Amino acid sequence: MPPVDEILAGKDICICAGSGGVGKTTTSAAIATGMAARGQRVCVLTIDPAKRLADSLGLRELGNEAKRVDPELFAQQGIEMKGELWAMMLDAKATFDELVARQAPDEESRDRVLGNRIYQQISNALAGSQEYMAMEKLFELHTEGRFDLLVLDTPPTRNALDFLDAPRRLTQFIEGRSLRMFMRPTGLAARVAGRGASVALSVFKRIVGFDLLADLAEFFNAFSGMVDGFQARAKRVNNLLADPHTCFLVVCGPQGEPIDEAVYFHRKLVEAKLPFGGVIVNKVHYPAERLRGNGAAATAGGGDVDGDDALRAALAAKLDEDLAGRVAENFADYQALAERDARNIEHLARELRTSATIRVPYLDEDVHDLTGLAEINRYLFATSEQREAIAAGRA
Ligand SMILES: Nc1ncnc2c1ncn2[C@@H]1O[C@H](COP(=O)(O)OP(=O)(O)O)[C@@H](O)[C@H]1O
Ligand SMILES: [Mg+2]
Repeated sequence: MPPVDEILAGKDICICAGSGGVGKTTTSAAIATGMAARGQRVCVLTIDPAKRLADSLGLRELGNEAKRVDPELFAQQGIEMKGELWAMMLDAKATFDELVARQAPDEESRDRVLGNRIYQQISNALAGSQEYMAMEKLFELHTEGRFDLLVLDTPPTRNALDFLDAPRRLTQFIEGRSLRMFMRPTGLAARVAGRGASVALSVFKRIVGFDLLADLAEFFNAFSGMVDGFQARAKRVNNLLADPHTCFLVVCGPQGEPIDEAVYFHRKLVEAKLPFGGVIVNKVHYPAERLRGNGAAATAGGGDVDGDDALRAALAAKLDEDLAGRVAENFADYQALAERDARNIEHLARELRTSATIRVPYLDEDVHDLTGLAEINRYLFATSEQREAIAAGRA
């Protein structure tokens, strides 16, 4: 597996996708930091960073605009930073507002939509799904062209594929029947706006209240002028995702289910003709032989009975019998996990017909600061040989 910087050579956009909790946010932050350290101007768009990670990147509040991470912070950690790291935390609602502002033909219709109660409800609901807004922001930043590389963390959707669908869903919503009905020249909106309201409509009015209907009418009238703009933009967002300068990295865990999901996700990417770059298997249990790292333990494959007995004997010499037994069991459990992970990763590589899998070990601590990210990057940015060597020296 080539290191991440080779995979990303010549790319403008890196999208870290995968199901929730596998380490997408961590990986995106680490990749962005690593690429910046190597000299690029990088911006990472994070969605839901853990508070401590956000703090350590200087992302204290939702800003919806990129802020540069203080270079001094890297110096303090002894991390050489040749480029620039920028970060932003996505604010989906603000992104939607910006989008409307951009699509609105004039200031007046912009303000009418933004101030409209129906819009506020709909935008919250749409923005709540976050996926589309993430794509939007990505597109906007890419168009501005201020950065060499954009790294996108994806929302914690239950289904990793949801966000791939997001541009289509927005278009569907806009093209959808209910909106069309409202926006037809003779549609409800026109009728409410006009004076000739039918009896049914006046009953409806009495039930829901005139203000609400007026709001609806106004919203759809103002929105209708923006539909074409939205559609065109959704199309360009889709094109950007499929661009050869974009790279999807699938992040997954080593357990069976995340691996199956990664296989499925990879297939969907290929079907959608989206550029797949590789898989990052995070939180891997490395076999402990390697962890001991003195070359003495050559029990490749693990589970070796002699090895277990030897371990027990060695432990018994240092600990009381009961404790030695439990430590040995714990060790055996860990070994079993490591073997399971290795099998799953092999399965993954076979399914994807790729050697492009990078393993990152399950670190002893959560990754919440630049030092933690640097530790992750020892794996992400290492050649295969370096990776093995590091693993061997980890004891
Ligand atoms: N390799 C790792 N070793 C140990 N902890 C990790 C590792 N990768 C991520 N974590 C921790 O796991 C948690 C979830 O990671 P996160 O990146 O937020 O996942 P996601 O964005 O996919 O939901 C965080 O607390 C993070 O610090
Ligand atoms: Mg996340």
